[in-house]
Amino acid sequence: IRKQKLIPKAQYGGRHAVTMLPGGGIGPECMGYVRDIFKYIGAPVDFEIVDIDPTVDNDDDVLYAITTIKRNGVGLKGNIETKSEAAYVTSRNVALRNELDMYAYVLNCKSFPGVETRHKDIDVVIIRQNTEGEYAMLEHESVHGVIESMKVVTASNSERVARFAFEFARKNGRKKVTTVHKANIMKLSDGLFLETSKRLAKEYPDIEHNDMIIDNCCMQLVAKPHQFDVMLMTNLYGSIVSNVVCGLLGGAGLLSGRNYGDHYAVFEPGTRNTGTAIAGKNVANPIAMINASIDMLEHLGHHFHADLLRRAVHKTINVDRIMTPDVGGTASSTDVVNAIIGNIGLNH
Ligand code: NAI
Repeated sequence: IRKQKLIPKAQYGGRHAVTMLPGGGIGPECMGYVRDIFKYIGAPVDFEIVDIDPTVDNDDDVLYAITTIKRNGVGLKGNIETKSEAAYVTSRNVALRNELDMYAYVLNCKSFPGVETRHKDIDVVIIRQNTEGEYAMLEHESVHGVIESMKVVTASNSERVARFAFEFARKNGRKKVTTVHKANIMKLSDGLFLETSKRLAKEYPDIEHNDMIIDNCCMQLVAKPHQFDVMLMTNLYGSIVSNVVCGLLGGAGLLSGRNYGDHYAVFEPGTRNTGTAIAGKNVANPIAMINASIDMLEHLGHHFHADLLRRAVHKTINVDRIMTPDVGGTASSTDVVNAIIGNIGLNH
């Protein structure tokens, strides 16, 4: 969005260095598919792979991952498991987003014509505050049997993400921004988030603005999703609504999400889950991670390679309908990847 700051940094001889965080569950196998495809198309990207061991009780791995993203400017990420249930062990995913100050998360939710779903032609963009709100991870037991959990909403982050949403709408030819909140109950925290977006909306008279309470929003989404265009919300609502919309479009295996700050960008599957139960079975849908890699290629300015891959994914899913079981197909993960590679060959 703020182009001058989001220029990717590490480029050597026309090639970009990108941090790859395979994470747990199906992350490593999906990253393997991305690497195979990138090799096949000759994408000018060199991955710096950082494995984070979730069983180790220190933050050395995650600090190293943060250092490499700061050096490279860009990351491609699976979901890192948070194994320990001890309260002092925080989510490494959250730590990474916070340390890199990636305050805006963007999920483009566009229907795949080849995937059978109740609603057709959904085209919604979710923009989520990504670094505070309900994810402050400040919980404590004030007296025995009483847990308090802090939700932190700041004027500065509310303004940054609201501006991001309106700028995104304007630059992408979108017509409306809907702020999703629970300001009727959380009058101060969500109240601040809502009031900030209302104030900023006045600077964007060309973009319609409305707001909706989160409860009603979920009902409206599953019943009449076409009324939404760009949706702006706090962190936890963003996670829940992202999963609702991914569900409407075919589940966890299709969409990709983008984390942005003023300096760094990290690309990942849209629902951010690990898929641990299906790991190693050759059934995981590889499309979400491949779509994340396409977003990353676009961000790096490798439009030719992004386009080549996007067209091959489109043909595989929407025309040939070669899909994994989660979206109604019978193909294995590797069948889908091989079909994509075959379709790239046809396009070349
Ligand atoms: P999960 O990993 O069990 O996935 C939910 C469902 O989607 C499962 O049925 C899984 O098999 C399926 N699925 C996921 N990716 C798929 C793919 N590529 N292809 C086909 N099917 C796929 O999700 P759960 O239980 O929500 O979370 C597991 C871990 O992920 C937890 O550690 C959680 O903290 C973390 N996580 C989940 C998030 C979410 O939004 N669901 C967000 C952030 C973290």
